[in-house]
Amino acid sequence: MKDKTSENISEFGILFLNWVEKYFNNLEEFPVLSNTKPGNIKKQLPTNPPAKSESYENIISDLNNIILPGVTHWNHPKFMAYFNSTSSDPGIFAELVSAAFNTNGMLWKSNPASTELEEVTLNWFRKMLGLSDNFWGIIYDLASSSTMHAIVAARENLDDYAIREKGFGGVQNKPRLRLYASEQAHSSIEKGAIVAGIGLEGVRKIKVDENFRMIPKELGNAIAEDKLNGWKPFCVVATVGTTSTTSIDPVSEISKICKTENVWLHVDAAHAGVAAIVPEMKYLFDGVENADSIVVNPHKWMFTPVDLSVLFTKHKGILKQAFSIIPEYLKTDEDNEVTNFMDYGIQLGRRFRSLKLWFIIRHYGTEGIIEIIREHLRLGKMFSNWIVENPNFELLAPTPLSTICFRAITNNLKSDEELNLFNKKLMDNINATGKVFLSHTVLNGKFTIRVVISGIRTEERHVMEIFGILNNEYKKAKI
Ligand SMILES: Cc1ncc(COP(=O)(O)O)c(C=O)c1O
Repeated sequence: MKDKTSENISEFGILFLNWVEKYFNNLEEFPVLSNTKPGNIKKQLPTNPPAKSESYENIISDLNNIILPGVTHWNHPKFMAYFNSTSSDPGIFAELVSAAFNTNGMLWKSNPASTELEEVTLNWFRKMLGLSDNFWGIIYDLASSSTMHAIVAARENLDDYAIREKGFGGVQNKPRLRLYASEQAHSSIEKGAIVAGIGLEGVRKIKVDENFRMIPKELGNAIAEDKLNGWKPFCVVATVGTTSTTSIDPVSEISKICKTENVWLHVDAAHAGVAAIVPEMKYLFDGVENADSIVVNPHKWMFTPVDLSVLFTKHKGILKQAFSIIPEYLKTDEDNEVTNFMDYGIQLGRRFRSLKLWFIIRHYGTEGIIEIIREHLRLGKMFSNWIVENPNFELLAPTPLSTICFRAITNNLKSDEELNLFNKKLMDNINATGKVFLSHTVLNGKFTIRVVISGIRTEERHVMEIFGILNNEYKKAKI
């Protein structure tokens, strides 16, 4: 069967463009959190694939009737759970063009534009973040991948281990490797350590202070103790914007310890990194210039459709040394003059992701991006102040950015256990309204509700509405 759709793509494409436009226009009508039950979507879909071609109209009909009710709307202006990721028009257009090209940018030759646009846009992005040109960047899918690559590079940096060649089985007589991150660090660091063969025992969690920031002295002590006990410290991961509270580890002090101890410093700024684009927030990156690598995700707080994570490193050569394997069929005449991105990671094939960054930075301009993030920061402070001023709630962590961590309190419930149950129920009730989606964490044993303000469609009225719902549900739930 000849597929004719490419000949008159606009005839069908318009159906989908209209669909997307209508979706965005009606976004606020949908429940933010899908209220479907497990298995409900599957049971409405045939178990066998269709033998005959189906029309786009039929596909759209099922999209509306089966898929849409099972979607949790990350683009909704009152999606305030986890760390949000919202898509923007230029991001969507770039995805369309990227799928149309459908290139594989493994080599410069296999798509020169993809390679060179990645180099150019990451240079722009680096400058926006205020990092020096000692850093070189690469796009991966996720922060989890970026961090995993950084950990493997840090391992490769140990000359006398040669794990790439020998594997851990070949270095049994050497001290075991140890990596350090705070108690508040993201689980992707442990996953990276698992993949790199460091193992969970090779990850040592460092205590945090009352504001959930890594305590540098504890790090120094842990490294000293480990060395005495026969471990080999090789990597520290500091976080700028931890997942639970967006606390900011003191990177400057941590970097001094890393320098003295000669260990690789990786900075996880997956969510918060883009806030450093805002001039008055530059302090977020104090000391980051001393790091060996840093991850920032445009797909979290820079309106970029999932996925697009950026790893910057000062050690392009080490990353290449860690991963490059060039089979005969992938050798090219330009190998010595160009970057072949396949040499810098586990993936061979690469999507044309830099288009998204290019479209977005050009469409908004740096000033537009600053304005949007600045507004989120203002709304975050506003919500945080409301919590502080209201006797029914208490703030459980500082609000350095736009993530607010709090719980409800009542005179009748004294213990944390009782308050934890009360707050879990309160959050579930709020989410059940379908008007907002919040998520939680636990801080010092206290069930903590988080409100994250980072969606491109979120305005002051939405934040006010959420506070209204919170107060309403509190009154209903109060014992
Ligand atoms: C601080 C931090 N690092 C890493 C990640 C992992 O991000 P990704 O989903 O891009 O792997 C997250 C996710 O929220 C995060 O908060």
